[in-house]
Amino acid sequence: MHQLKSWAEPYKIKMVELLDMTTHAQRLKAIADAGYNTFLLRSAEVYIDLLTDSGTSAMSDQQWAGMMRGDEAYAGSRNFYHLEEAVQKTYGYKYLVPTHQGRGAEHIISKLLIKKGDVIPGNMYFTTTRLHQELAGGHFVDVIIPEAHDPENEHPFKGNIDLQKLSEVIRKYGAKKIPYVSLATSVNMAGGQPVSMENLKALRELTSKHGIRIIHDMTRVAENAYFIKEREPGYNRRTIASIIKEICSYTDGATMSAKKDALVNIGGFLALNEYPVFEEARNMVVVYEGLHTYGGLAGRDMEAMAIGIGESVSYDHIHARVGQVLYLGKKIADAGVPIVKPVGGHGVFLNASAFLPHIKQDQYPAQQLAAQLYLESGIRSMERGVVSAGRDPKTGKNRYPKLELVRLTIPRRVYTQAHMDVVAESVAAVYDRRKKIKGLKMVYEPKYLRFFQARFKPL
Ligand code: F0G
Repeated sequence: MHQLKSWAEPYKIKMVELLDMTTHAQRLKAIADAGYNTFLLRSAEVYIDLLTDSGTSAMSDQQWAGMMRGDEAYAGSRNFYHLEEAVQKTYGYKYLVPTHQGRGAEHIISKLLIKKGDVIPGNMYFTTTRLHQELAGGHFVDVIIPEAHDPENEHPFKGNIDLQKLSEVIRKYGAKKIPYVSLATSVNMAGGQPVSMENLKALRELTSKHGIRIIHDMTRVAENAYFIKEREPGYNRRTIASIIKEICSYTDGATMSAKKDALVNIGGFLALNEYPVFEEARNMVVVYEGLHTYGGLAGRDMEAMAIGIGESVSYDHIHARVGQVLYLGKKIADAGVPIVKPVGGHGVFLNASAFLPHIKQDQYPAQQLAAQLYLESGIRSMERGVVSAGRDPKTGKNRYPKLELVRLTIPRRVYTQAHMDVVAESVAAVYDRRKKIKGLKMVYEPKYLRFFQARFKPL
């Protein structure tokens, strides 16, 4: 089916889930009750839910059939071996430690490899990843290319690592203080921006020279592979599967939130190539997640994941998945609304600083924009700006990221093109009344990952 230009879905619909519609008055009450935080809305109050692409995928009939083959043995479930085989075959990593989701794997690898005072360079932070690095005593340093911080810059691989900057970090702190480079494919906080194979190869060369590991956050590796195929010279004829395997081959291990690209509602893993590190991780998982052959998952969850991994590397799947995201991005951009360019793999990111230039960053423009979009039509999105960035653990001061964004994240295989049209129309409607929108103040702030539970009031 490669010859088709259309991104039309390579599946048909067998079952539907009815949506709840709300009135403006109901939404006004709901968002106030939620403290202007879309994480605190009930999903029954939401019409189109673009909060996240995490755990929100529709599974295939094959995956559901796999759920029925769940082997719920405490130890040695046959589904574990099936998953292990899928990870080895598809990604090429040698050893598998299943975890309940991505942050379970981040917890283990951070605790295992990071010592107090260590430095972890990475291509832009992710909220849970950085927090686990900090809790283990490390300090995250951003080494993404500067283009990634500019929403207007159309660089095709805005997820790339700035190797010059990384070399300076190595020189400054010394390789001994750097347990690994934290490399994400499809950089979430930058807007789902890919890393190029060329950059990965150069990164491998540089880190090998200094004996530094690369730990790969492979949560959205299939989407990254799609962009390499589309944009990088020499990759157009390669299969998505072979590109993914090549990406993984330049790294020493990986953390995976299978709730994204691997098409499941729950699950994750840590994958490793070094036996001694694996041995310790396998020992540690017993303490924090569960036995090393289930890591906090039911047998059926591991089976659905094994099948989902296989489906996620099909060209037709990923072409339709990213195609739908690009469709929405184009519609919103055509309406004149400022967004992060180029559009990434998992969602469209509204540039809240440009959308609401009259609201200062410490009055939470992205938080308010997400609330207003909900109010407009019941669409749920997520703040990815100053609230998500949190406070510096040393100084206690707010971190002010250059990107103040609202993420419209598209669940995989869930919504239709008509839903995307409604989303674009709603965003345009909020844009039309943007000048009347005022900022927010924070009235409750939790200590960790505050964006999940913070509460706000309109100014
Ligand atoms: N790494 C990346 C790049 C992620 O996007 C996420 C989760 C994680 C790690 C953590 O995985 O949720 O399974 O524990 N991102 C979700 C999101 C929450 O909405 O972007 P997890």
